[in-house]
Amino acid sequence: MSEPPLIEIRNATIWRGTTCVFEKLNLTIEQHERVAVLGPNGSGKTTLLKTINRELYPVVTADSAVRILGRDHWNVWDLRRHIGIVSHDLHQRYTPTTTALEVVISGFHSSIGVHGTLAQQISKDEIDKAQAILNLLGIDALANTALRSMSTGQQRRCLLGRALVHKPQTLILDEPTEGLDFAASFDYLDRIRELARNGHNIVLVTHHLNEIPPEVDRVVVLKEGNVVADGDKAAVLEGEFLSSVYETGIRVTEIDGFYLAYPGRRLNKT
Ligand SMILES: Nc1ncnc2c1ncn2[C@@H]1O[C@H](COP(=O)(O)OP(=O)(O)OP(=O)(O)O)[C@@H](O)[C@H]1O
Ligand SMILES: [Mg+2]
Repeated sequence: MSEPPLIEIRNATIWRGTTCVFEKLNLTIEQHERVAVLGPNGSGKTTLLKTINRELYPVVTADSAVRILGRDHWNVWDLRRHIGIVSHDLHQRYTPTTTALEVVISGFHSSIGVHGTLAQQISKDEIDKAQAILNLLGIDALANTALRSMSTGQQRRCLLGRALVHKPQTLILDEPTEGLDFAASFDYLDRIRELARNGHNIVLVTHHLNEIPPEVDRVVVLKEGNVVADGDKAAVLEGEFLSSVYETGIRVTEIDGFYLAYPGRRLNKT
């Protein structure tokens, strides 16, 4: 039997508060696919990722469906074992006194930090595994350092560590390199590339084309809650098309599988 898709969205209507972000959205992402999601601010990228991660629920109607890994219903704790996430939202929810080790360990419990009764449930095995991940990410020296005493890049590495604790098949990354310098974002990119090469399912939102790993071959473009392009990266990342989506002149070049956007001729606005 073939594997169910990571997500199968059919005719879905998805609200954020009082805003209807998607109406009759249709999108399927298979397991093992590597997808970048682009689109102007407010186009629905984060909303889509939160739907995959079951932080948001679509309105259920007779002719709509949102199935994750073949199932309509999930216990979110189970789902967290399959999907690791790095996002600004998640980052912001951590209190600045949480240490690197605590951030990574909290991934085992799908919690934010390891306070109160949870602190007593931490096993030696979890501590050892979290320590090993900190080693892998090159931040073992920060194990007992509080987030407030780390740079943004170091904090983001802790979050990647948290996302990786369950060795999830799928990684959902919402602007993971926001605020990182070249060294930190390229290092991040290398780690994502390695995960992609090892067959992980990657769904990445970014505003920077050069941060789309060459291993990502499908690009979905959203605009005002609509999928305006979905296909092969080389075909979608095209200057004229992106200029029309972002309503500003954009040119695109490609170097060794990496893409770069830079300003093009401004569109004539009448
Ligand atoms: N918590 C919220 N309550 C109400 N509306 C929201 C909320 N969060 C987002 N929205 C609205 O939902 C729409 C989609 O937002 P979303 O965060 O998915 O956009 P995005 O594509 O991720 O944008 P960005 O590039 O700025 O991160 C926007 O119109 C936004 O104003
Ligand atoms: Mg967003």
